[in-house]
Amino acid sequence: GGPKLKLNNGAEIPAIGLGTWQSKLGEVASAVSYALKEVGYRHIDCAWAYGNEKEVGEGIRASGVPRSEVFITSKLWGTFHNRVEECLDETLANLGTDYLDLYLVHWPIPLNPKGNHPVFPLLPNGKRDVYHEWKLKDTWKQMEEMVKKGKVRSIGVSNFSEAKLEEILPTAEIIPVVDQLELHVYNPQHKLISYLKSKGILPQAYSPLGSAGSPLLTDEVAQSIAAKHSLQTADVLLGYLIAKGIVALPKSVTPARIASNFTGAISAADKLETADIEKLDGLAAAGKQKRFITPPWPVELGFEHWPPL
Ligand code: A2P
Repeated sequence: GGPKLKLNNGAEIPAIGLGTWQSKLGEVASAVSYALKEVGYRHIDCAWAYGNEKEVGEGIRASGVPRSEVFITSKLWGTFHNRVEECLDETLANLGTDYLDLYLVHWPIPLNPKGNHPVFPLLPNGKRDVYHEWKLKDTWKQMEEMVKKGKVRSIGVSNFSEAKLEEILPTAEIIPVVDQLELHVYNPQHKLISYLKSKGILPQAYSPLGSAGSPLLTDEVAQSIAAKHSLQTADVLLGYLIAKGIVALPKSVTPARIASNFTGAISAADKLETADIEKLDGLAAAGKQKRFITPPWPVELGFEHWPPL
């Protein structure tokens, strides 16, 4: 299962997980099964909104790896903030399991549950139909209920800035165990990461390779560090995160990449020297700062980390 990290509730989480966003139907089941059965992944990152959880579940079962040995994460979609259990139940049914290891609030933006579209409701003026009356602290209360009911072992957030976390922390009975963010060498979010550390919240990195068509893979600094250690550039990008105590969630449906991302990340985390990590840490500040994921929300909605610091 590779290296593990500890959550603030004492549970363990495998430091490398397979991402499934944009993994297509017809590809994702075999990718998941391959990752678990042939490579040794024990952590799959899913979401209701990815629209592929049924196939992810098929892949998990096809792998033959017992449910109890796999760490499964899913995420609550915006149109369900006032009815968390409904979204969770759909996810559990699709995945074919009766509990999740981790359930996240996908984005800190509640959307109109009765809007004109079940996933991306719009107002007549074409703007996103945000559910402004709904408070995130009430979403979090319902998330906590799911832990009490035994449907999820741990709860956390995703795409939450410090300001958004401060909307739930004062009334939270359970501190989020993770904040899943776009994190990679071009978007290290150093300030937010140190805030999370101060609260005991573990950072998780989505798009750790910078997503499809990534310029990260041809970054000269990352390439030269890779060459020095006889690693691939992708290994360095992932190992950098693992070495910093950040969960990495690389997505791939290509068997060779699924395998090399796992073994390469472990090997790179071991080989990278402090000086290498410092160089990679400094790339964004040296002019390379870049995000690859655009949030599907108006930017005025409290993304202090958006546009990037
Ligand atoms: P594919 O799934 O076709 O293999 P991220 O995890 O940063 O979002 O990146 C995912 C994207 O990067 C996908 O397009 C995936 O393609 C590709 N990818 C995943 N692993 C590697 C790798 N080791 N080398 C090059 N591209 C990769």
